[in-house]
This record gives sequence, structure tokens and C-alpha cells, in this order.
Amino acid sequence: MRLFKLPFKNSKESTADFTETVSENMPKHIAIIMDGNGRWAKKRGMPRVAGHREGMDNVKRIVKAANQLQVEILTLYAFSTENWKRPLTEVEYIMKLPIDFLQHYLPELVDENVRIQTIGEFDDLPKNTKAAIMRAKEQTADNTGLILNIAINYGSRFEMIRSIREICQEVQEGKYEIEEITETTLSDHLYTSHIKDPDLLIRTSGELRLSNFLLWQSAYTELWFTDTLWPDFSKEEFEKAINDFQKRKRRYGGI
Ligand code: FPP
Repeated sequence: MRLFKLPFKNSKESTADFTETVSENMPKHIAIIMDGNGRWAKKRGMPRVAGHREGMDNVKRIVKAANQLQVEILTLYAFSTENWKRPLTEVEYIMKLPIDFLQHYLPELVDENVRIQTIGEFDDLPKNTKAAIMRAKEQTADNTGLILNIAINYGSRFEMIRSIREICQEVQEGKYEIEEITETTLSDHLYTSHIKDPDLLIRTSGELRLSNFLLWQSAYTELWFTDTLWPDFSKEEFEKAINDFQKRKRRYGGI
């Protein structure tokens, strides 16, 4: 990675003479499919939920690293619309993780100037999960560092259907004509309307697919895969993914 020193802007202490290593051509938005928690636990003879717990702790480490590297947005796939098919005990456990995570780490995230947002069908989450996340969103709303964007009860196909429904409604209301619908119209109705598309998408655990994650938004995203299971995915490997990204030529269909 081509590293040089810059003032560390993503922290509230940034006005001091604190400097942090950052690099040129950093991906502004990184999305991660945090896969392999179950296998991590199985390898150790532990229940699957132990892998999710360890995965949750790793979220904190990677959030910290992303913030230090001055990444602007980190979108983490925490729970898909398809994950409801899992055994109820596992679903309930995963739904409690954001509550635990915020209980443990919210003060630190506030200090680190991180802003918490979500994408997905938020209203359908369990009441306690919603309440904990709402509190965190409110408490961090004015923060100006890394946006930690949690994809929870998120599915890309449903996101597009939802967007199309809203557009049809607006056409019916006479706000614009069908012929006026563009890529921007659709983008503007996605959960991600307020954030730029991911530059880099990482998937851990050796699986090579997108699993209904940011399908529209990742049209020109650089993909990066590793066999490492999410709980073992380290800051060093995160930097390696960024380093590889920096060597890629993005042509967006041009030459
Ligand atoms: C996929 O691994 C992982 C999940 C479905 C849950 C991910 C959730 C976390 C890491 C915690 C998120 C918490 C916050 C606060 C963002 P898997 O269970 O499919 O693994 P496997 O393929 O090995 O079975």
C-alpha cells in the first residue's frame, strides 16, 4: 500500500496533532459479506452462535481499522431477508447481537466519531433490536467520521421491488412520465439513495457469490474474496484487500 501521513480526520481528537497512516486512492465505500461464523465455531466444536459472537467482536476491530484508514462508509451484511429461514434460536441470537454490540461498544463508537446507519426493512425487526439501533442512530447522528452502515433484514431484490413500487406510485400521481425514469430514479429510491456505491466488496469464507447483497449498487464495484472465516479476518487482511484494490484499474466499461 502506498502509505503517507495525513491528519486523522475520522476521530473527534483529530484537531490535535495526532496523525494516522492513510493511503492514496482509498476506497471510500467498502462493503463486507461477513461469512463463515458457523464454520469457525464448528471447527472448534462450539455451537454456531459462538461463531456469531466472535464475529460480532470482529466487527468492532474492522470498524476501528476502517475509521483509522479514513474509509468513509463501511456497509456490513449482518442479516439478510433469507436468513429468517435459519433455526429460530439462531435467528433470535443474531437479532440480539446488535443490542450486545451497542451495549459494549457504543460509547467507544461515539468517541471515535462513528455514525451508525442501517439499510433493510427496519420496521420488521424485533422491538428491542430496533430500539437499540434507533438509540445508536440518534446518539451518533451528528458524528462526521466513518459511517457504519449495517445491512439488517436486507435483500437486494426486495430493495429493487420496493423502489419500483414507489416509482410506479409516483408515475400514477403524475410526478413524472414513464419515459423520464432513469438509473438515477431507481438509485434514488433504494435504501442507499444517500450514499455512493461501494468501491470495494469483500466476502470472507471462500464463497464466491453476492447472495442478494447490493446487486444494483455493485455494478462497477471491485470484488475481493478470501478463504478466511469472518471471525479471523484481521486488520492486516483488510489492509491487504485495500492494497489489492489500489492496484486495480477501474474502467467502468471504457478503455
Ligand atoms: C454469516 O455466517 C453470518 C451471519 C448471517 C451473521 C453475521 C452477523 C455478525 C457477524 C454480527 C453482526 C453484528 C453487528 C452489530 C453488525 P454463517 O453463519 O452463514 O457462516 P457459515 O457459512 O460458516 O455457516
